[in-house]
This record gives sequence, C-alpha cells and structure tokens, in this order.
Amino acid sequence: MAESTPALSQTAFVQQLNFWARDASNESAALLGAFALGMFAHLPDEGSSTPVSLEELAQRIGGTVRGTRSVIEPLVGLGFVRLEEGRGYSLPASSDFLRQEGFAARMREALEGWLVSAKLPEALRTGAPVEWRGGSRDLLGWYRQEFLAPRAPAPSPTAADYEDRAVRNFLRTQALVTSGTVGLLEAMVSGPRPLSELAKATGTQPEALRVLLGVLASMGLVRQEGDAFGFSELAGRSLDATSLPYFQRALPATMDYWEAFAHLDEAVTQRGFRLDLRDPETAKRIYQQNASRITGIFVSHLKLGRKAAELVASMRPLKDARVLDVGTGSGVWGAAFGLADPSVHVTYLDSEHVLEQVKPNIAKLKLDGRARYWAGDCLSVDYGESQYDVILLPQVIPALPPEELPRLFGQLARALRPQGLLLVSGYLLTDRRDGPLDALYFALRRYVSNEGDVLSMPDFRRLLEPVGLTSSRGFEMPIQQVVVASRGDVPWPAP
Ligand SMILES: C[S@@+](CC[C@H](N)C(=O)[O-])C[C@H]1O[C@@H](n2cnc3c(N)ncnc32)[C@H](O)[C@@H]1O
Repeated sequence: MAESTPALSQTAFVQQLNFWARDASNESAALLGAFALGMFAHLPDEGSSTPVSLEELAQRIGGTVRGTRSVIEPLVGLGFVRLEEGRGYSLPASSDFLRQEGFAARMREALEGWLVSAKLPEALRTGAPVEWRGGSRDLLGWYRQEFLAPRAPAPSPTAADYEDRAVRNFLRTQALVTSGTVGLLEAMVSGPRPLSELAKATGTQPEALRVLLGVLASMGLVRQEGDAFGFSELAGRSLDATSLPYFQRALPATMDYWEAFAHLDEAVTQRGFRLDLRDPETAKRIYQQNASRITGIFVSHLKLGRKAAELVASMRPLKDARVLDVGTGSGVWGAAFGLADPSVHVTYLDSEHVLEQVKPNIAKLKLDGRARYWAGDCLSVDYGESQYDVILLPQVIPALPPEELPRLFGQLARALRPQGLLLVSGYLLTDRRDGPLDALYFALRRYVSNEGDVLSMPDFRRLLEPVGLTSSRGFEMPIQQVVVASRGDVPWPAP
C-alpha cells in the first residue's frame, strides 16, 4: 500500500487533521445540500444576465433567507459561485459542470450514503455489508471504490475538486471519527503494530480494518512497514500519548451534527431542525458537553482571555473594574479578567447546570472571593443601568437567536458604565461574508442546529450603532477575533 506523503509542515498537518475531524464534513454538507435544494438551476451564468439576489434565490428554492445564505456562503468562499457586490449570485463558466445531470446524480447518491456512513464502526466489526432501510449497503466497498480504486476522470479540475470535497470529505471525517471510536488511534500511538494485532485491539475484522488503514494512509496519517501499520511521521509527531486524548475529545461533537447535516435541505425549506438547540433538553446536553470540553482546554483559552484583558487594560485601567461574563461556559474569559488585576470583580452568567462546572475552575484559580455566579437566561435577565465597566460576550452570539440580538445589545449598552467596553469574541466574517472558510463552516453548523449567526464587522455595526456603541473595531487574536465597542469615550490603543 502506498502512503501518500503530502509535503506538509507540522503546523499545516495539524490544521489538516482538525479540518478532517470536523469541517471537512461541514464542507461536504454545504456542497451536497446545494444540490438537494436544486440551487444551481436558479443561478444565472456570470456576466450573461442579472445575478440573483439572496432573497430571490431563497424564494426560488422555497427556502428561508438565512438557510439559503448559510449554504451558499461557503460555495462563494470556495469560488464555485460568484457574489457580485450589491447585486447577487451567479455561476462562473468554470462551474458549468454543476448543471450536468450526471454530476448531479453522483451528488445525490453521495448524500443518500451520508447516514449509512455512520455505520462504519459496525462494518469494521462484522466485515460485512450493513443493514440499511430494510436492505443492505456495502459500506466498505464504497470506501474502497472512493479511496483505493482508480478514479474515473472528472470533466475538469474544478469538477474534480468539487467532487472530492462533496463526496470524499465527509467520508474522511467519518473514517477519522471511527478510528477514534474503535480505538485504532490509541492502538497505534505507541508505534507500528501488525494488522492482526490492531484488529484484535480494536475488535474489528482484519480485512475490513485494512480498508480503513488504506483510507487513513491516503490522508497521510498512516504508514505501512511490512505487515505493520503505524502513524506516519507527521501524525506520530502530532498525536502522541498526551495530545491524542485531547484530539479525540472533539470527535463525538462532530457526530452530534451528522443526522442534522443529512437533512440540511429540510432545515432550509421547512425549518425542520433534527438537532434543535432551542429545545431546552438538547441545549442542556450539548452545552454541558461543551463546557466540559472547554474546561479540558482551559489553559489555552485562558491565555487568549488574558491577551484580551491586556488589550482592554491598554485602553482603560482595570482597577476596581466590574466585569460581566455573559454565557461564561467554563468561566475562562471572566477568570482571565479576574487574574489581570487583583481588584477586578467578575460576574459569571450562564444557566445553572453550566455554572456548576464554572465554580471549581474559579476556585482552583483562587478567584472565588471576587466572583458572583448568576444563573439565568441572558435574553431575559435584567442587567440594570450603568452596572459594569467591561461586558464580555465570548463565543455566545452564535448560540443566540439572531432576532434577539438588537434587544440584547440595547440592554448591554445600557448596563455599561461611562468608559465602559463591550468585548465580543469568536469568529468574525469578512465584510462580504465570503470567508474565512472555517468561520463559514462554523456558521453552517450553528444554522443546522437552529442556533445563532456568525457576524461580519458591518453586521456588528448595524447592531452596535443604534444602541449608542458608536465606536467599534475588530482585533486579531491567536485563536479567535475580538470585537471591542464603546460609546466613543475610550481611546483606541496606539497601533
Ligand atoms: C459556545 S459556549 C461559550 C462558552 C464560553 N464563553 C467560552 O468562550 O468558552 C456558549 C455558552 O453560552 C451559554 N448560553 C447560551 N444561551 C444562553 C442563554 N440564553 N443564557 C445564558 N447562557 C447561554 C451556553 O450555556 C454556553 O455555556
């Protein structure tokens, strides 16, 4: 078996690995979802007629505006669809293949296999076709055909690229997630092992496992040495005994969205959300898992929060500041501000069950003497007037219904003291909302689970200016972006 050895740096490899663990399947979902929605039939050729506006496109495919936008934005970001500023969407000549029936049929077939692919652990255990809707599907045969057999030539390099992202990316994600589930990654972490030994350690059939190892080799993760299989050099350096558990912890979250993505078209046309985070029980389950995952990466997020606290301290003193951390999660952002100055007092606001996970984190940092825990719904609590010097909204906007944001921003602006700062962290889209791609995939996940939106700087200004926060700027931070807003009474830091 030949190992594909992409000439990647260590950093690029880790990025690629994280992409496969999550965003690769989000990308497939957008590219396949566009077909399920029949989107391409409604896009005019670039330059030949008037581009279609978002609202009109939504109407033509029978979808909501937000849903249509969530699907088409990644297509624009990838260059398959053109967005003509202020006019609308069209198809460039290089995307002609998107209207060919043969290509569309291949996409529909892949989408039909989306849910079956989640049965990969079962296929590995039995080595046989899996039961599916009263019949059976040869899942391992499908993987062999997509990754290990010679490929029929695509109509063009752009078509080959689309096909690979749409059809193979979610299969790659599934292969990686399954490698975690069956314990294959763990079994390889100590070094190469014979196929029979790996099969025994993972409870899988050797010949079935060989297929999975072949797929992982095509992704540059696995190398064969004689009869033994182990991590490639880059994978070995990226996934050691310390980092592997951390990497694997992110994998189940990908599967939380699997069913929802199989029915993305239904969300767009009928507002039918298979994973609905507006349902209190679902929200409780997902946010609790999220808080415990963030607790696991507390240290790196604390560093980020401390950088943000330094930024704020460079604009105004933090002495005696009252800080409010809205949607605190693990408490990490509020804690960073608590650590920035021994006189800072922090209020941690989240739902009761999440706050239970915050308290030990804050106690460990000896910040509990300057902490207040506020259990409530951030959309209905009373923030009062002129109460806080700094209000933090770290990664919370995408969890909130977009229609609630104008009112929330109004209340938060009112709760800010003079020289107060509102600090929002998370992804920030480009002004045209055509990137960065990982932010667009994150936004698509928020959409398919009936959550909030990811915003651009113009989107933020439309919310901030009407409530008097007339001065705002985006700042690049190590993992996320930060938007800082004031009433114009705090000077910006010197460049
Ligand atoms: C993605 S997490 C971010 C956690 C944390 N701020 C961070 O950056 O690590 C979103 C948090 O917002 C909280 N949240 C969502 N909706 C909320 C609401 N209506 N009221 C209060 N908290 C909410 C969730 O419980 C969750 O802890």
